[in-house]
Amino acid sequence: MIKVAPSLLAADFLNLGGEIERVARAGADYLHFDVMDGRFVPNISFGLPVLKAAAKKSLPVDAHLMIVEPEKYIDEFAKAGAKIITVHAEATAHLHRALQQIRAAGCLAGVALNPGTSPECLRYVLGEFDLALVMTVNPGFGGQKMIMPAVEKIAEIRGMLNRARCDAIIEVDGGVNEQTAPMLVERGATMLVAGSALFGAPDAQKFIENVKRCGMKKM
Ligand code: DX5
Ligand code: ZN
Repeated sequence: MIKVAPSLLAADFLNLGGEIERVARAGADYLHFDVMDGRFVPNISFGLPVLKAAAKKSLPVDAHLMIVEPEKYIDEFAKAGAKIITVHAEATAHLHRALQQIRAAGCLAGVALNPGTSPECLRYVLGEFDLALVMTVNPGFGGQKMIMPAVEKIAEIRGMLNRARCDAIIEVDGGVNEQTAPMLVERGATMLVAGSALFGAPDAQKFIENVKRCGMKKM
């Protein structure tokens, strides 16, 4: 079954609690929480205090850290209540150690790859992560157009995981909507982040049902 993680970045910031409950009722599986530091990406979003509040709501938090030296903050994000913590392979000099740190803090460990990053860097940390996050836009902003060559990485990563008998989640983030979801699932994605398309949809429940349905067709 495909998991859907609405990106809080596209929610109404004046009503975050209500927005989280709305997407939870609509069938979301996780709350995707985009942390930006103005250094790794050219934008600043929200951080620990907001995550701590959001984690009290009914969805597990999938924290996507778009920050340099994420290892400095892993323990704090775990304490704040994140269930999944994903760091960018490009943002740390010690990916292997950072992933071990995430698991030691009791969370699922994720590795994110920018559109221009080769999936090869996953090969040497296979077994150390629970989730690979394929960015299909350059991180920093919601509402961008999907970058097609990045989509091709999904199948490559699925092949690599299968050969290693590793059942990690493949999450895709950037430009996901009802039209793009089927090709992502077909290539092996098992979790989809959706920001602007989901929060902007006239009916969030329908949107989530339609996205999940493309996973069932595959089975
Ligand atoms: C971008 C973020 C995404 C973003 C996705 O840096 O990582 O999670 O919110 O937004 P959409 O779904 O609008 O592309
Ligand atoms: Zn994200």
